[in-house]
Amino acid sequence: MKNLRACFIMTLILLISPFLVYSAEMGKFSYGDFEQPKRCGMCHKEIHQEWQQSLMSQSFTHEWDQVEYFKLALPHALKLQKVSGIKGGCIACHGPLAFLSGDIPPKPAEAGTRANEGVSCEICHNIIGTTEEVPFNFSFIIEPDKVKQGPRGDAKSPAHDVKYSEFTISPELCATCHDEQSPYGAWVKTTYREWKASPHANGGKRCQDCHMYHAPGKSAFGGKERADMAHHNFHGSHFPSKLAGTVDLALYTKNKEITPGSKLELRAELFNGKAGHYIPSGSTEERMLWMEVWAIDAMGKHYPIPVDPKGFHGEEYTIADPKAMAYQAMGEIMEIKDFKGLKRDGNVQEGARIFRRPFLDPKGRMTICQWYTENNTLVDYRIGPMETKIENYTWSVPAEVASGQLTIKASLFFSQVPSSVGEFLELPAFEYEPIPVNTATLILEAR
Ligand code: HEC
Ligand code: HEC
Ligand code: HEC
Ligand code: HEC
Ligand code: HEC
Repeated sequence: MKNLRACFIMTLILLISPFLVYSAEMGKFSYGDFEQPKRCGMCHKEIHQEWQQSLMSQSFTHEWDQVEYFKLALPHALKLQKVSGIKGGCIACHGPLAFLSGDIPPKPAEAGTRANEGVSCEICHNIIGTTEEVPFNFSFIIEPDKVKQGPRGDAKSPAHDVKYSEFTISPELCATCHDEQSPYGAWVKTTYREWKASPHANGGKRCQDCHMYHAPGKSAFGGKERADMAHHNFHGSHFPSKLAGTVDLALYTKNKEITPGSKLELRAELFNGKAGHYIPSGSTEERMLWMEVWAIDAMGKHYPIPVDPKGFHGEEYTIADPKAMAYQAMGEIMEIKDFKGLKRDGNVQEGARIFRRPFLDPKGRMTICQWYTENNTLVDYRIGPMETKIENYTWSVPAEVASGQLTIKASLFFSQVPSSVGEFLELPAFEYEPIPVNTATLILEAR
């Protein structure tokens, strides 16, 4: 009888909430089962400072997360049965303490609950494994207790026991939160899967090697001096210094001189030698990498040079078009009457090549709502790990070009969120301003 009832409840949970399937852990614990990061920081001072400056400590509190959850995802979850699981699902990765304690939905950041601790020390160092063969959707198994999972077996601490954990040092730990499937079955985050298929995985370069810098030092007061202490920077695309130079850029032309009325042919080569996954990766639904090419004549006049189309399927999403509209789903969720959508490409210069992967909602419109994504396999024009992309340009040199020095400048930019979306939702400007990644120039002579 008891079994039958349990079986019935399980079936019900499976039916109503696609997200809960992967997590046996919602509400299994209470906030009191987890220590606060500042307590760990008493001995692990440097690591605590690094973690505080990283996005890990802000994964619930930082403004864009608050806006997306409270203005879009949560209202949508309450309105549309199919996505109801995200009410807890978003929080499982962004405010795991709240999820594990069953505080769903959590109060907004200003209430100061422990959801605000984000991805804390106690999350990563109490995770002992995953329920999945290839992890995704917060499929971690967690045991909050006095034993801290770590990279060494020989550490001695007065505050806790330590256990060497194969899982802690593996990219599969990261995969539990960095890969995600939408309620419609679309793979909306695939950073781990991208890495796994890359030369970096074969070469033994882990997520930890590129995102947690290793250097000689001590991780704690009273700890041992280590040759390769793991810093907790977790720098990603929110750090312009991490993005700078991620993609090499080279520009070529046969010509040394141009004449008005002639055609100038240019070639750009873009090589992703530094990221262990595609660029952009992670929140691919809202990220753009794009290249603008300009000619600048001796009088300082600027002429945009549009990319030559290649003719592949879905290419229209990869060439900036100021007339293209998208993101209509946001208006529906926010109940804005006659919402026509926003500029798909924000302020990106017309004709610029955009390296991106468009996500489409169930009505076939491009969306930044990854939970409301049905299909994102139409085209994937991002730059893969160790991949080179070639772009060609044919410029019809206008009659008015001033004679003298002519500069061709290619600039590569990255943005977290399209500027149209950022402005509409009133996000802080750093979330949508173009971040420079690289530039290349050629100097020619105009006759
Ligand atoms: C009273 C001081 C103190 C406090 C408080 C403390 N630790 Fe430690 N911890 C240490 C020392 C000392 C070591 C040993 C470092 C070494 O020798 O490399 C250590 C080691 C570790 C390790 C490394 C394990 C390994 O395999 O190398 C982890 C992980 C860890 N602590 C996590 C935590 C977390 C999480 C908290 C908060 C819940 C915490 N510590 C609180 C002193 C402390
Ligand atoms: C996103 C997951 C994550 C978070 C959050 C996190 N850690 Fe770690 N930590 C790791 C991983 C992974 C390693 C092992 C790195 C490696 O394999 O190179 C590690 C290593 C350590 C070590 C051992 C360093 C060494 O090289 O001996 C200590 C100590 C530690 N963490 C403490 C903390 C404290 C304190 C916090 C919170 C302020 C924290 N960690 C937050 C994932 C995390
Ligand atoms: C418990 C879930 C969880 C785990 C485990 C986890 N992450 Fe994250 N990570 C997040 C979330 C959530 C964010 C997004 C923070 C934000 O922007 O709101 C994030 C963001 C990041 C970023 C982007 C930071 C930026 O500047 O944009 C990097 C890099 C990163 N994580 C690396 C790692 C690595 C490496 C590991 C494994 C050692 C790991 N993460 C494990 C949840 C997790
Ligand atoms: C070879 C080094 C390398 C490896 C390995 C690597 N990364 Fe990265 N990662 C980078 C660089 C460089 C960037 C900055 C470029 C960018 O933001 O796309 C980055 C960016 C990111 C971002 C931000 C993505 C975006 O576009 O906003 C996340 C999240 C991230 N990494 C997570 C991971 C995880 C998880 C793994 C392992 C599965 C991993 N990285 C493996 C180098 C690496
Ligand atoms: C499986 C774990 C997971 C789930 C579920 C999840 N996220 Fe995330 N989220 C992440 C990770 C990891 C990143 C960082 C990716 C990157 O840096 O590009 C992220 C990034 C974000 C960002 C971008 C932050 C920025 O500054 O660009 C927002 C906003 C966000 N998530 C909101 C949500 C909302 C709302 C939901 C629920 C509909 C949700 N997330 C569900 C793991 C998750």
